Amino acid sequence: MTARTTRSHRTLALVAMLVAAACGGRNGGSSGGGAGSDVLALMNARGLSEQDVTAALKTYTPTGKHDEYYTFASGGHGGNVIVIGVPSMRILKYIGVFTPEPWQGFGYGDDSNAIVAQGFRGGKEITWADTHHPALSETGGEYDGRYLFINDKCNPRVAVIDLHDFVTKQIVGSELIASEHGATFVTPDTDYVIETSQYPAPLGGAYAPIEEYDSKYRGAMIFWRFDKQKGRIVPAESFAIELPPYMQDLADCGKKGSDGWVFCNSINTERAYGGILEGKPPLESGATQNDMDYLHCINWRAAEAVAKAGKTETIAGMRVIRLQTALDENLLAFVPEPKSPHGVDVTPNGKFIVVSGKLDTHVSVYSFEKIMDAIKSGRFESKDPYGIPVIGMKDALHTQVQLGLGPLHTQFDAKECVAYTSLYVDSMVAKWNFCEGKLLDKLAIHYNIGHLMTMEGDTTKPKGKYLVALNKLSIDRFNPVGPLHPQNHQLIDISNDKMQLLYDMPLPLGEPHNAQMVKADKIKPIEVYKPIGLNPYTNEVDPHATTTGKERIERTAEGVHVYMTSVRSHFSPDIVRVKEGDRVFLHVTNVEQAKDATHGLAIGGQNINVSLEPGKHVNIEFVADKAGVFPFYCTEFCSALHLEMAGYLLVEPK
Ligand code: CUA
Repeated sequence: MTARTTRSHRTLALVAMLVAAACGGRNGGSSGGGAGSDVLALMNARGLSEQDVTAALKTYTPTGKHDEYYTFASGGHGGNVIVIGVPSMRILKYIGVFTPEPWQGFGYGDDSNAIVAQGFRGGKEITWADTHHPALSETGGEYDGRYLFINDKCNPRVAVIDLHDFVTKQIVGSELIASEHGATFVTPDTDYVIETSQYPAPLGGAYAPIEEYDSKYRGAMIFWRFDKQKGRIVPAESFAIELPPYMQDLADCGKKGSDGWVFCNSINTERAYGGILEGKPPLESGATQNDMDYLHCINWRAAEAVAKAGKTETIAGMRVIRLQTALDENLLAFVPEPKSPHGVDVTPNGKFIVVSGKLDTHVSVYSFEKIMDAIKSGRFESKDPYGIPVIGMKDALHTQVQLGLGPLHTQFDAKECVAYTSLYVDSMVAKWNFCEGKLLDKLAIHYNIGHLMTMEGDTTKPKGKYLVALNKLSIDRFNPVGPLHPQNHQLIDISNDKMQLLYDMPLPLGEPHNAQMVKADKIKPIEVYKPIGLNPYTNEVDPHATTTGKERIERTAEGVHVYMTSVRSHFSPDIVRVKEGDRVFLHVTNVEQAKDATHGLAIGGQNINVSLEPGKHVNIEFVADKAGVFPFYCTEFCSALHLEMAGYLLVEPK
């Protein structure tokens, strides 16, 4: 028997088995005709291997069936969040965050404009973002499915998305810091959302010559206080800790026994700042001279008490615990970490802190208990130039494991002690045991992987089953679309000893930097806004909401107020008469309560396009600065008479 016939027999048996399983055994083990041979013919025609077919069976989600998990991926340069179903990898939604999003009508004329404007910085309109790390809200160290946070690396900002309607409700930012990266990370009960600066600068946006980098430039970790009941960050109750001018990077909060601490890795202990044309080494070579950088161990619970006691200085509106105060209050200690590391991840049991070397082939697993012992007994090997105590590596390390080239980020399995780490340079995922310090498996992915995520893989209770590799490059994986390629998310089955690559998903919208994945039944979105007239941004029935029969147009000193309803298939009123130069207020209530009975309202020449989900109320304000006839119409295909769902704004010349 040739290899080829062995393979086809085995395949036929597999297909027969699959078909038998699918048909409840009625077709038995027939290895010849019927559905089995049809599937085999299909496999041959499409050139599919057994592995392809098992991958397809593990991911294919039939029409009408829902996915088991939601993924919330950052939209990278898109400044938004992408919602993806797993295992089908179908895109379910783009949530407008820092960038206006026309389908949701986010930032196109209604109250959401004020949310986008919260993200402007120093009076400058900013309508894009480099979104990096989404974080789901947690209760007791587990995702609670209520809120999602996302950061902007470029213009340090944090946004709050409410997952009951998948809408961005708030953007906060502080001019204390000039850039960030280590955000968003939540404490185990979402008391705080953490945002840490990346590129040091004088705090509060001041100027200082770069030669004064060591003395004037600083980093900071901001603790944004989150009110879970109101679903909003409270800037007045937030605070920051000043940090030395290393480039602070990612962070992760302690869990269980290590709750109350946050761990943040850093690069550039060299404090290099470039200067290629000024005879200095480029930043990247200056910043990689030392073998060790510093893992920052910060007692945030104690820091909170220090802030509450008023031992802060207000800079750019933010209460800041100055570095000297942080030292006096024992809030901060360092542990050496090799070498220009990237990820820092606390294990689900809270006992270990995993740091990936990036320029080192190892992951280092630190023991929380050992770190605490060293701090409590004052056992430090040195101090950094800013007086911060440094614990000896040997006094903190649990184990080190050689995984491969360019280890970056780590996520965890439902199985005890099992972790997965991305290897950027190798383009692989490593599966390993952090208790015993043992490599278990490696899988090649396509191509250079950055973050990776497992199901609820950074909580106290990871769910296992799937891993998604967030790859930076796709090179040859998809039909070419010009020199700018999509990124590639690859879905991997981690339920067995050997990892299996299941699916490639192109993501053509910025570089989706990181993502989190949550069990679908934890997300409980509303179907319609209730009661009718609810304003999603106040979460109350809007004072300008109207009902059927109460529609009206009122002229006041400030302008023309139009109280409008939408229902399949008309707006009422459908004729609005104003005078050139009038300020116009459109208060529109979608009085529908049927699921998916969404309308849209667009007016030409005004950059207005709002979404009217059932029950929603929107307020639109503009100046009718040009005389003329402006049709307005519904932008959602809401009924057979959708085309007829239109009206006229008549702007009479002065
Ligand atoms: Cu309402 Cu189309």
